[in-house]
Amino acid sequence: MKILAFESSCDETAVGVVEDGRRVLSDIVASQADLHALYGGVVPEIASRKHVEAISALTEQALREAGCSRKDIGAVAVTYAPGLIGAVLVGLSFAKSVAFGLGVPLIPVHHIRGHIAANYLAFPELTPPFLALAISGGNTLIVDVRDYTDMVILGATRDDAAGECFDKAARVLGLPYPGGKPLDDLARQSAGGVYRLPHAQVDGAPLDMSFSGLKTAVVNLAHHAEQVGEELDRAALARDFAQAVSDTLVPRVMEAARQSGRDIICAAGGVAANSVIRADLERACIEAGYRLYLPPAALCGDNSAMIGAQGYYEYLAGHQAGMELNAYANLDI
Ligand code: KG4
Repeated sequence: MKILAFESSCDETAVGVVEDGRRVLSDIVASQADLHALYGGVVPEIASRKHVEAISALTEQALREAGCSRKDIGAVAVTYAPGLIGAVLVGLSFAKSVAFGLGVPLIPVHHIRGHIAANYLAFPELTPPFLALAISGGNTLIVDVRDYTDMVILGATRDDAAGECFDKAARVLGLPYPGGKPLDDLARQSAGGVYRLPHAQVDGAPLDMSFSGLKTAVVNLAHHAEQVGEELDRAALARDFAQAVSDTLVPRVMEAARQSGRDIICAAGGVAANSVIRADLERACIEAGYRLYLPPAALCGDNSAMIGAQGYYEYLAGHQAGMELNAYANLDI
């Protein structure tokens, strides 16, 4: 079955066609990042307007690149939560009209479930159950993926998402938005070990995380250096920061795997492209004897193929929606 998939939860408008949940026929991602970079972060109203401008032409392009005509499409999948509400609503409204017009099922897809499903596209042999570390701009979750549509959160951030923390740290280091990738590149220039940064624990919830203290520490360090005219070792701070994030994430994933008995671990979301986190996960999984799946960077960030992949399994599970389907800024996985 060929699924036409839409993703518009933040600042990427993405449309694509995925066959049987595993084969990407097209995946057109139009990023608005350059526009939001002018403001140092995503401006929700601008994001919504840009989605409106782009989505129709991208749909034509996605069908063309997939070699599909409208009658080949068996269902429409769309991100309906979580995300910037205006942005999600654009994709959802458009997807509804396409599904209605084609007379095919409309499949609602949770954005984080989509990120996890990116692994099905990169690794054909992968099937649940497994453990997923979902780390993006808005979410940081350790998820027990019991089955394609049966997921339980084992650990989560209590405040900022890892990606939000990367973006703020990058900003005070003078790097452009979105800062995760530039900070990663800067961090590669240093072995670190210069700055002592906090590693928060959540009392009574060993698998939960907190990144706000780490974010504040980096901001304070940068501001203090500026005030006293001290030269900041930017590469070392970037490296030590990335290490602090990784030191928060990786031991918790290993502990979650031990507790749940899972021996397969997948990473997902934009931050899963980070080189320090990837290397630490690889090392820890080799040591523990777990199988690790790390999707390529293009499948870590927001895209439509991941929505088409998860959409297929939601469809098989009988999850369809009517025209009354709403969008949600926050929604449990
Ligand atoms: O998954 P994603 O594209 O969008 C959301 O669903 O949120 O994630 C975007 C986040 C941004 O915060 C971006 O800075 C971060 O992923 N990111 C990275 C890297 N590449 C992207 N963070 C750390 N290292 C990277 N290499």
